[in-house]
Amino acid sequence: MNIAIIGTGNVGGALAQQLLKAGHSVLMGVRFPLSEKSLKLAAKIGEDRFAAVENAAKQSEVIIITTPPDAALALIPQLGDVSNKTIIDATNSIRVKPEPYPTAFHAIKAITKSEQVVKCFNTTGFENMLNPVYNGEGIDMFCAGNSKEAKQLAEKLSKEIGFAACYDFGGDDKVELLEKFALSWINLAIMQGLGRNLAFKVVKR
Ligand SMILES: NC(=O)c1ccc[n+]([C@@H]2O[C@H](COP(=O)([O-])OP(=O)(O)OC[C@H]3O[C@@H](n4cnc5c(N)ncnc54)[C@H](OP(=O)(O)O)[C@@H]3O)[C@@H](O)[C@H]2O)c1
Repeated sequence: MNIAIIGTGNVGGALAQQLLKAGHSVLMGVRFPLSEKSLKLAAKIGEDRFAAVENAAKQSEVIIITTPPDAALALIPQLGDVSNKTIIDATNSIRVKPEPYPTAFHAIKAITKSEQVVKCFNTTGFENMLNPVYNGEGIDMFCAGNSKEAKQLAEKLSKEIGFAACYDFGGDDKVELLEKFALSWINLAIMQGLGRNLAFKVVKR
């Protein structure tokens, strides 16, 4: 698939490398001139994978947002016509919110009027996106939003980059819960000091 990733930092860089490995065509949507983060990533994936946000979005069927959540407000108009695209929101509005919206997901839905929006790739650290395998087993990813198609796509991409499963957390009403779930990972990994090499996996009996 043609995938645009907006944001070239920890999460954008990890997803870009993994999605390229999985055989997708990835274009990074960036601000010019290229930032230090973009140049660092370009050294890994090639400078030809960088374009202005609007060009990257235009050439892609899937757009993954990996910027700070409040940047979404400036970004959305640059995405152009998104009526035939799926938008995956990987942001967490923990420290800042895209006021007046509670999360970037809500801002994207309200401003674009698109139904094809899904929250995914927000619940674990970027290191786990780069390598989702622990002791030979894939860890789990989670997604939320009203669109079944967008969730199916998020699940497909999650599995392609090594997650064992991508659990459906529910509809738009569960998006904020999924951000709280991300905060639970941050709490254990950082605030409680367990370290970033930890991950969530659902077990059943
Ligand atoms: N870090 C994690 O482990 C993790 C895990 C899950 C979710 N998240 C969420 O994912 C998001 C990104 O986190 P991160 O750690 O990857 O951040 P980061 O390393 O600081 O990278 C953020 C990227 O967003 C870009 N950006 C900011 N405003 C932009 C705009 N208006 N237009 C285009 N690009 C813009 C920055 O561009 P420049 O390079 O030009 O400054 C930078 O490349 C956050 O919402 C965070 O809550 C993070």
